[in-house]
Parts: sequence; structure tokens; C-alpha cells
Amino acid sequence: MNQAPTKTAEGQDGKLERDRCVLALYERLLEVEQRLIPTGLHVLGQAPKEHDQIDMLLMLASFDRPESGVKALPDLVTAGLGLGTYERLLKKPAFDEGRVLVQKISRHAIETLLSKGVNASTELLQLESNVDASEVFPVLSLVQETAAKLLINTEIDSLSRALRGEFVEPGPGADLIQNPNVLPTGRNTHAVNPYSVPSNSAFARSEATVTRLLERHLKENGRYPKSIALVLWGLDNIKTQGEGVAQALWLMGVTPVRDSLNRVTEIEVIPLEQLGRPRIDVVMTVSGIFRDLFSCTMNLLDRAVRTVASLDEPEEWNYLKANVEEQRAANSCSFDEAVIRVFSNAPGNYGTNVNFMVMNSQWDHGSALGELFVTRKSFAYGRDSSGRNVEGKENPAALNSALARVDATFQNIDTYEVGITDVDHYFEYLGAVSKAVENRSGKRPSIYLSDTLSRDGKVRSLTETVELETRTKTLNPKWYEGMLKHGFRGVAEIESHVTNTFGWSATTGAVDGWIYTEVAKTFLLDSEMLERLARLNVHSVRSLAARLIEAHSRGFWEVEKEMLERLRTVFSELEDRVEGVV
Ligand code: BEZ
Ligand code: MG
Repeated sequence: MNQAPTKTAEGQDGKLERDRCVLALYERLLEVEQRLIPTGLHVLGQAPKEHDQIDMLLMLASFDRPESGVKALPDLVTAGLGLGTYERLLKKPAFDEGRVLVQKISRHAIETLLSKGVNASTELLQLESNVDASEVFPVLSLVQETAAKLLINTEIDSLSRALRGEFVEPGPGADLIQNPNVLPTGRNTHAVNPYSVPSNSAFARSEATVTRLLERHLKENGRYPKSIALVLWGLDNIKTQGEGVAQALWLMGVTPVRDSLNRVTEIEVIPLEQLGRPRIDVVMTVSGIFRDLFSCTMNLLDRAVRTVASLDEPEEWNYLKANVEEQRAANSCSFDEAVIRVFSNAPGNYGTNVNFMVMNSQWDHGSALGELFVTRKSFAYGRDSSGRNVEGKENPAALNSALARVDATFQNIDTYEVGITDVDHYFEYLGAVSKAVENRSGKRPSIYLSDTLSRDGKVRSLTETVELETRTKTLNPKWYEGMLKHGFRGVAEIESHVTNTFGWSATTGAVDGWIYTEVAKTFLLDSEMLERLARLNVHSVRSLAARLIEAHSRGFWEVEKEMLERLRTVFSELEDRVEGVV
């Protein structure tokens, strides 16, 4: 029975609430602190500095690599300390004593390895965590070999060989942490066999991401999303061996099937009892590069959609089928028309152009950004019921109808090197498709991004991701000072981060005003910093000031009058410098 709380119980509740808030804040701080970020641009022909390497090598050592008999270092340390599994520790808060201890010992082991070699590191691990030397040898050797390869840089030599038409040794293209064999740099990058996608490990990894994504939506909205719009890129699916493709298959509840030549050419339906949740409708907008590289994969995805939409299952367990039926009734169209879910640019065309529209401020209402996306991406790919190839047939009605039913949008992030404010492509795709959904459904979708590189593979909301990127990059002195070491180019990078952040405001409204306030204070209203930036690259710093003023004038940033006036003065002085007036 509920009783009215006594004064002491209330006090107790207050204290608990305060403790909860402090712990949540601490957790956020650790997340920001531990985030791996690039601290400078890559310079052709130059190896990374040693101090940049420890975090990267620690991350590299944090993954099992069964194909080369390597067990992850934190897992070995956890087991050696008798703390169960590292997977279990990762579910605990970031400040959990055991978790912190494991991470501290792992870092210490990598530092010792770099300064004193494998034997010293093995001894340390034995002493501090009771791990057997034979067990840690494979992971420590991998780290040592990788550290040595990081110092080899034949980029300039390879470039001049290529220019002379000579042979350049080939090497795989991937993220270093996903595949350490990408080193040494300076080789002729080769991609992937599209028939191998998704790999078994990409498919296995993707189950957890999809589960997290669906659980998060369920928690925030009280139900699973009926339809999710996915953005699929070519290079990302090369790097991850098809993680994005695997996520699409998991959402629909199907597995890839290999033929006798080990090529993924078919799919198999996972029974509902085994799946334990409804099948989700997926609307896939794929990049031009994906279309060019993964034509057989687009057919596979299209076949998966058609198979799932034809299953004899209750509609409340098969949202894809339910949506296709609803579209057929609403639009009086055929199954072939209603079931299209794989869209890209017209053949030979690339990109959405939404990034250029934003950069050049050539738009009046945000809805134009979503409409441009649909114009560019409304070309259908797959095969119809009679087996005829559909290769880039313009069909905006099909894309409109599918997007109108979308509840959430999603994109996979698979590298720490390129995040959602580093390049304009994330907002031109994920941002613009979200705007197109909003235009059609009348409701802003939930927007999510995964972080499949971290061991605890998080799914974050767009707002959380923008904040994390801002804290760890744009406003982080370690990041911007790293950029400013590159002079002119560094200022351009800072400006481009702010414009990309602005791109998220324009397409999704997911940027809090404090971000623009802090950007203004850090780069423009601090006179010493302003002078430094203006001397290095007055054009970019002028654009940065103009972008902040635009953020205000478009209603993305409520700024105090006095700050706005100061910004206008800064802008006008910078413009005078550009024009050579002063
Ligand atoms: C892609 O790999 O598909 C891609 C690369 C850059 C921008 C957009 C897409
Ligand atoms: Mg003037």
C-alpha cells in the first residue's frame, strides 16, 4: 500500500535523486573524456606522432580477432582478475571500480609495450592481473606489429610510382581498428567482393546494434518503429564488410544465405518465434557509390523486402507487409509499386546536393532540403515480380509513400576518424531524409546513429551525437589546437565543423543553442583567438561569423542582443580585411 512520504523519506528521495544526477553527469563526462578523436589532419607522407598512438592501439587491442587467434586485452585482464566477463563489466557504469581497473591495467600494458617491449608488458600483466603470458602474447604481438607499421609511410614514394605508371603494391581498404592489415599506408587500396557482403562477423555484430536501436525506440515511444529509413553508403559497407546491409536484414528478420561458391545470393526468413519481435519495414536510400559497387546487394535487399512482404503472417508481427498492404489500398497500386524500398540517384548521378544548398544559403524554407533529397534519390532499384531488372527507374510516388510511413531514421557510424560534423555528407543524407519524412508524415522522426566501433556499441540520438561531437571536437582545445597546427587548413576545418553543425539545425533542428553560443565565445569573441584565426585564414573565419549570424536569422539560435551586435561588428571588420579596406 502506498503511504504519504514522511519528511525523512522525502529527504532521502532528494538525496537519491541528487546522487543519481551526479552519477549520470559523471558518466557523461567519462564518455566525452574517453572518446577517441583525431588530433590533427593526415599529412601525406608523414607517420602519426607517438602520443596519438596509445589510445588507438588500446582500441585496437580491445577487440577479439578469432581469424588470427587474438583475444581482446580487456577480456583477458577481466578474466585474470576474476571479475567475470568484460562484456558484463561494460554493462556497468563507466566509473564502476572493476571496469576502471581493467581499463587502467590495459592502458598501462600498452604503454609498457611501446616503451619497453612485449616481455615487459607480459610481466606487468602477469603481476597486475594474473594473466598467463601465452594468452596475452597474440594481442601484444599484434599491437607491436601495428605500432611498427604505423611508422612506415611510403605514400610519397607510391604516389610518384603511380604517376610514373609503375606498380604499387595493393592493400585492403578499411578502418585501422576494423582491420589492422590496412597498414602500412601508401598502398593501392582495393575494396571488397560484393558477393561476400555481409560477412558472417558483420551479420553477427549487427544483431546487437539492431536490438539496441529497437529497444531505444520502444523505451522512448512506447512501441517499436513500424518503419525505419536507413542510409547506406558504399565505403562504409566496404570498411565494415556490410554492417549496414546486415542491419537492414536484421530489421526485416532475415539471414543471408551463401551458395556453393560462398557468395551471398539468397536470404532465409527467421521464424517469428525465434525473432521474438515484429519485422520492421525498411526504406533504404543508398549512395551513388553503393549503387555502383553493390548492385547484387541491392538486388538481395530488394528480394528480402519482397519475400517478407509476401509472408503469411499477422500484420501486427510484420509491419513491412502491413505497410505494403496499406499502400496498395491507399494508392490503388500494384504489389510491385507498393513494395519498392531500395532507392538511389539516377544512374550515373551522385549525392543529394542538399549540402551545397545549405552551404550556399540557397533555401527559404527547411522543407526544400527534404524535397531536394527526394528529387535526387527517387530512383528505384531491384527486380519486379516478372523478374525484370529495375535499374534506376524514377518513381517519386513510391518513395513518397514509403517515407510517409517512417517513424525513425538511422545511419551506422563505423569509424572514429569521420563523424557527423566532420563532413557535410551525414546531414545531406541522414538529415535530409529525416526532413523528407517530416514533410510527408507531419512528424519529425526519431533520428538515431550507432557507434559500432566501441565495444559497448551504443545507439545514440542525433541530439546526443551532435553534443558529443561538439564537446569532443569543435569546442575541445585538444582538437582545435591540433587543427590549428595546420594553419590555413585548420581554420577551414573549424569553419566546416560549424557549417556541418548548422546543416543539422537546417535539416533536423537537433542542435541546442548553447552550441552556437560557445562557438561564438571560443572563436570570435575572444579577441586573441579571433586575431590568430584571422591571420591564418581570414576567409574561413569570416564565413564562420556569417554562419553564426545566419543561425540566428533562421531561428536556430536565440542569442542575446549584445552578443549579436558584437558578432555583426566582428563580421563587418573581417569583411573589411577580406576586401583589403584595412
Ligand atoms: C559512400 O561511400 O557511399 C559515400 C561517400 C561519401 C559521401 C557519401 C557517400
Ligand atoms: Mg564592407
